[in-house]
Amino acid sequence: MALGFDIVTIFPQVILSYVQESILKRASKMGLLDVKTYNLRDYTTDRHKSVDDYPYGGGPGMVMKVEPIYNAVKAIKADGKERMVIMTSPQGKVFSQEMASELARCQKRFIILCGRYEGIDERVKELLVDEELSIGDYVLTGGELAALIIIDSLTRLIPGVLGDADSAQQDSFSEGLLDYPHYTRPPEFMGLKVPEVLFSGNHREIQAWRAQESLRRTLKRRPDLFIKHYKGA
Ligand code: ADE
Repeated sequence: MALGFDIVTIFPQVILSYVQESILKRASKMGLLDVKTYNLRDYTTDRHKSVDDYPYGGGPGMVMKVEPIYNAVKAIKADGKERMVIMTSPQGKVFSQEMASELARCQKRFIILCGRYEGIDERVKELLVDEELSIGDYVLTGGELAALIIIDSLTRLIPGVLGDADSAQQDSFSEGLLDYPHYTRPPEFMGLKVPEVLFSGNHREIQAWRAQESLRRTLKRRPDLFIKHYKGA
């Protein structure tokens, strides 16, 4: 299984500088990830390469124009491969680990349209977009970080991308709960000791302790997830 992304942005370098490092870089080298960027300005038709314009009806800020985005998506889709078009915006469905797992399994390439300015002409959504996604209830200056979050969270779920085959399954949210506490050497630091049970070598006891800590943390910090976990069970 491999993942492919076509990112439409006015800042391709923001996307490339992140995906060309660390685990995403390795995933690309292994042929498990393919990220291509498309500079929206290359799909403009006017002399000034305008990607935005004043809002009809007045008001502050600028709105991203429909034509360059339409041209970019059309050009990307010209190879006939099946693709899902995602637009990042604070008005979208809130992205979650559950959505990341679903998308990682969907076997299509993804086009991600990164918004800037006050918004994107509504006709982009009507004509081109399959899914509008937000990464949380706050407003960023643009959709590039949101796109990177989507790329990153899907990529680490591809088998073979993470070193330890288990680590994506065991982390926070994969069971709908928060992760348990982790420790490494030294056994004591500034008076703080690693819990005794972790030295016991008894895997059943260690597992039980981790499950309990995971539940305890979730109940204390995220009662919403705790309730969901039990309702779903
Ligand atoms: N663009 C600006 N804010 C955003 C958010 N919260 N999620 C996705 N895209 C955005």
